[in-house]
Amino acid sequence: MREVYLDNSATTPVLPEVAAAMQEVLTDNFGNPSSLHRRGLRAEQAKKEARRVVAQACGVKEQEIFFTSGGTEANNLAIKGAARRRRRRGSHLITTKIEHPSVLYTFQALEEEGFAVTYLDVDADGLVTAEAVADAVREDTLLVSVMHVNNEVGSIMPVAEIGPLVKAKNPRTLFHVDAVQSFGKLPVRPQAWQADLLTVSAHKIHGPKGCGALYCRGVLLLAPLLHGGDQEQGVRPGTENMAGIVGFAAAVRLQLARQEENYRQLAELKRLFLEELQQRLPDVRQNGPLDGAPHIVNLTVPDIKGEVLLHALAEEGIYLSTGSACHSHRADPSHVLLAMGRSPRQIESSLRISFSALITAADVVYAVEKISAAVTALRQMTRRKR
Ligand SMILES: Cc1ncc(COP(=O)(O)O)c(C=O)c1O
Repeated sequence: MREVYLDNSATTPVLPEVAAAMQEVLTDNFGNPSSLHRRGLRAEQAKKEARRVVAQACGVKEQEIFFTSGGTEANNLAIKGAARRRRRRGSHLITTKIEHPSVLYTFQALEEEGFAVTYLDVDADGLVTAEAVADAVREDTLLVSVMHVNNEVGSIMPVAEIGPLVKAKNPRTLFHVDAVQSFGKLPVRPQAWQADLLTVSAHKIHGPKGCGALYCRGVLLLAPLLHGGDQEQGVRPGTENMAGIVGFAAAVRLQLARQEENYRQLAELKRLFLEELQQRLPDVRQNGPLDGAPHIVNLTVPDIKGEVLLHALAEEGIYLSTGSACHSHRADPSHVLLAMGRSPRQIESSLRISFSALITAADVVYAVEKISAAVTALRQMTRRKR
């Protein structure tokens, strides 16, 4: 059966070059980078090179990159690490209502520790303005966390404007950006954005799952989540996931070499998808801005349950999602679409399609044919039941 994988915001396949680099570390260059013998030194060298690649991709210094077990850990480390370390200076934190659960639930956990959190509203397109963020900053605001690209609807937050405005209001307030969905696809420039902390993850760019990194601006100190050895300058102790780290760097290298080309391809796939879909199903509505990230489309298909459509399409080899993969086992409606003002009924009828550069125009046309056929069949069934 022909398969089209359109769930690339959940995860992407590891590219063969990435798998080969990982294989080498698993079986040949398998040393512990902390060991003092030759095998250890070779592993340390590979880690150093990987750090250089990730640092260069973000335009920052090597010693400002800390490898973690993924975006979730990097978000936890940034937010808890900064808030706990600075708690004597204040207790106020700011984020938006549409962050990834690894950010939202981290803030909720900090509320239980006595911090006060402002959760900012977004507009109908899933956007927050830099002014709204800066307005919320107070004398005692320790940290602001705003994602770059939203994982459900693809809205691109104005992070380049938020950083400078936040700093103008309170130079001591730290700025964290979750760049998991943008890294490798859009330029990610923490220094230009005046971001002190920035999260990236490997498996959204054809790297392995279970590896990510946190950029932490040079002078900044974080309270570690884990206690142990002095790996990652003691900020993230534990023997390194070397296959993950080396695979991450290999994926970054490949992704950056083709970033602009991929961007154009993704934008063209998205345009083609929406055009084809509009012709076949004119009542389908897009959730999120028209000029959002090129790899994410969120749709509401009236009178169809997103989950039913998802399963019908999976039978046909078309793989997509109803929202965030991290929320797929929860019954409550998407917090992102709710914050954007969609009704529970509209949310129930929503789907997320996400592309990668491995998808072709022919795949998109084929997928739209299958989607419209499935929607037509489901609508006929519902009519017959009535
Ligand atoms: C915006 C965003 N932040 C964080 C994460 C978590 O990253 P990881 O899966 O590497 O833990 C994801 C994953 O879906 C994401 O989309």
